[in-house]
Amino acid sequence: MAPVTEGTNAEAVRAPRLLVLEAGVSAGGAILRAAAALGVTTYVATHPQMYANYSPELKQLTAGTICPDFTDPASALDELTAFCHRAEIDGVLACWEFLTPLAAHLAAAMGLPGHDPERAPACRNKRLMSDVFTAQGVPSPRTVAARDPGKLARLAEEAGLTWPLVVKPAENAASIGVSVVSDPDHLPDAVRRARAETQKLPHGIALDTTLLAQEYIQGPEFSVESIVAHGEIQHLAVTEKFTTGGADRAETGHTVPAALSNDTRQAILDAASRALTSLGLRDGPSHTEIKLSADGSPYVIEVGARPPGDGIMDLVAEATGVDQARACVQTALGVRPDLTPRHRRAAAIRFLYAPHAGTLSRVDVPLRGGHVEEITVTAVPGDELTAPHDNLQRLGHISLRGMTAHEVNDAASRALAQIRVVMK
Ligand SMILES: Nc1ncnc2c1ncn2[C@@H]1O[C@H](COP(=O)(O)OP(=O)(O)O)[C@@H](O)[C@H]1O
Ligand SMILES: [Mg+2]
Repeated sequence: MAPVTEGTNAEAVRAPRLLVLEAGVSAGGAILRAAAALGVTTYVATHPQMYANYSPELKQLTAGTICPDFTDPASALDELTAFCHRAEIDGVLACWEFLTPLAAHLAAAMGLPGHDPERAPACRNKRLMSDVFTAQGVPSPRTVAARDPGKLARLAEEAGLTWPLVVKPAENAASIGVSVVSDPDHLPDAVRRARAETQKLPHGIALDTTLLAQEYIQGPEFSVESIVAHGEIQHLAVTEKFTTGGADRAETGHTVPAALSNDTRQAILDAASRALTSLGLRDGPSHTEIKLSADGSPYVIEVGARPPGDGIMDLVAEATGVDQARACVQTALGVRPDLTPRHRRAAAIRFLYAPHAGTLSRVDVPLRGGHVEEITVTAVPGDELTAPHDNLQRLGHISLRGMTAHEVNDAASRALAQIRVVMK
């Protein structure tokens, strides 16, 4: 990569410097490793309690930290701007969805590559996102918003929305507080869940718990992994996304690439492009979630202006040969990444959950081999577990590799059938 500062003969050329906004999330490790491989010096904006839990490897890849007051976005922006000047930062990258608006404002304040700060709140707040999508004609579920549950139900009825409805908070992630509500009797419980979390800890980032009720889109779900560089959108992959059914929608796995006809794939990519354009994405990664309705029409569920989590970047690398984490770092530094696919293979991840609430006795796993590349169990006997209601109840995962999506999906089904999560 070209050095960011052009040195004279007398000056030593210094390594580019990146500020990552919270690396203690699932994309963080890949980003820090990619930055190190590019010879980039990486600083991290984090919270002391979060940083204390960073792995030794992540700490070793971090040149320094800044812990601003995240409870106050304006002062966090001031503190981070001062830090960026002091540390002569050349690029800013948010790994964590909750910090994407701050990253956009910081990049703009520093004159560095980033997304449009004016529209950045709409990349995080689903009420604003829905307003932008509606105004710009991006295909998305019809949505009403209210702070009061009675008003929410009234607005839903006036808008002609029928049950089931999806009820969710305007700001959260990982399916936290999201319910598919079959009838009015279940609305109070969904409202309670949507309002349960009012701030993201330990950072203390306030969450807008305005209630949203959305048209329920019945059908398969996908995500589109993209890099926007100098305003040019490039889609790296369409991921098939697996979730639980019923009232809760925890993610149970991902496969790259999704097995799709060319026409359907193109329709999904077009919807993603329209969503990214409407939200003012200019320089950085994005992760767009899309459902297909019964007639095959795409509906954009949400856009995250951040790298995908859940190991999806590893799946993209395995399936296409494109190093998405490297591309994220390069884009943040204003370097145009090479996104040319190197091969066409397939990769998948599946998450392990307890079948029901209780105490874990043991997890029986098959031997690795064949398509199964890795099995990781993070829970230990004696752990109190629950069945999945959002993405936080995972007790491990399996990673699979193969030549086609069908191959890895079949292998995943076989492997999952052999894994026994035994409760006491
Ligand atoms: N309008 C909808 N129709 C159908 N399913 C939905 C809808 N909204 C959300 N879901 C399901 O719930 C999951 C979580 O909702 P999402 O809006 O993506 O919240 P989060 O930000 O927590 O990921 C989605 O991945 C999808 O499976
Ligand atoms: Mg989502």
